[in-house]
Amino acid sequence: MQIRKSGAKYSAIVGIGERIRKQSVETGEEYLLLNRGVNAVCNVDIDPIVQNIDFNSNAMQVYPPAQGRQELREAINQHYFDNKSKLANISVSGGGMSALDLTFQTLNVDQILLPEYYWGSYFQVMTIREIQSGTYTNFDNLLNRLPEIKNSAVIICDPNNPIGNKVDDKEILKTVDILNNNGTTVIIDSPYRRIFCDQDDQFYQDLLEFENVIIVESFSKSLGLSGQRLGFIHSTNTEFNTELGIRLMYATNGINAFSQILVANLLTSEQGKMARQNFKEITVEGIRQNINFLQKKGLLASEFYTHSKALGIFVIVNKSEEELLEKRIGSVSLSYFTKTKKTEAAQYARICVSVPPDKFKHYFDNF
Ligand SMILES: Cc1ncc(COP(=O)(O)O)c(C=O)c1O
Repeated sequence: MQIRKSGAKYSAIVGIGERIRKQSVETGEEYLLLNRGVNAVCNVDIDPIVQNIDFNSNAMQVYPPAQGRQELREAINQHYFDNKSKLANISVSGGGMSALDLTFQTLNVDQILLPEYYWGSYFQVMTIREIQSGTYTNFDNLLNRLPEIKNSAVIICDPNNPIGNKVDDKEILKTVDILNNNGTTVIIDSPYRRIFCDQDDQFYQDLLEFENVIIVESFSKSLGLSGQRLGFIHSTNTEFNTELGIRLMYATNGINAFSQILVANLLTSEQGKMARQNFKEITVEGIRQNINFLQKKGLLASEFYTHSKALGIFVIVNKSEEELLEKRIGSVSLSYFTKTKKTEAAQYARICVSVPPDKFKHYFDNF
């Protein structure tokens, strides 16, 4: 059998998880798993919503439309764009990862520029799709290279994974405006943003005026539903949407109907609103307490938060992956998230701070 090898690597984070699990079994001790990227302060309570879903229906049992169920796309338009976009601009995807893959395949660009510290999967998906990668250090760095990046795409992930910092929205919009006018495509992949805000957030509406902007979103983090594998892609560019629609059709033949019905309910019903708000309030408060605790203990790597705020759900601590593991805390070395600063990054680790504060404090009090 001949195999077309992509050269992409399996996720290092999965490997770290396996190592911690093995160590936990061997020692019989419990570990605090901060290596993962999921909200674990609480679950979103979907029981009351599921009780109202008719499982013996065509909506549930028959192929959904390839671009996504109309009801969900309408809910997305309402919830994220205050109804100011069009359904033709919204395509439902099987989570953010698949949305990014489809976006990367569809674009014809010289390269895709990633932040200095970035989520490794961007690079792996680009490797599979044979797309060149580049790096930018900050927004000024992009603005100083406008002629060079005319036919490139730039990924903006804010709050950032792995740093967990939040840049001021005004600064993001100012930069997007210049890049958009320069002909540079901007991919806004910010799945952590909507944990910290809800329907009243204006940001996505403000992006509607830009034809070279693609928004990739996910319900994995903002609704705590990574198991449902649901997200969406939004663009106002008709040519992009047409080609994306074709690729989406042949990659998926439609996305799981249950997850679409569930999320549409969470976005539109009164019960859904309550479930969403409870989940977000408890999660954000837990994250806030954990970051404050790290700050007080001098464990937050404050050098990463001089121009922007540490928001979560990740932060960088000034301990290495090994030092944390000695205290039974799972983390991911910051060196996994950079190509340009590997040596310096090895003394830091990324941890997920979206866990119950009492448990978090218990483990970090060992420092
Ligand atoms: C920055 C970023 N984008 C996208 C995703 C994709 O998540 P999902 O495929 O679960 O929607 C993740 C997941 O960890 C992420 O960290």
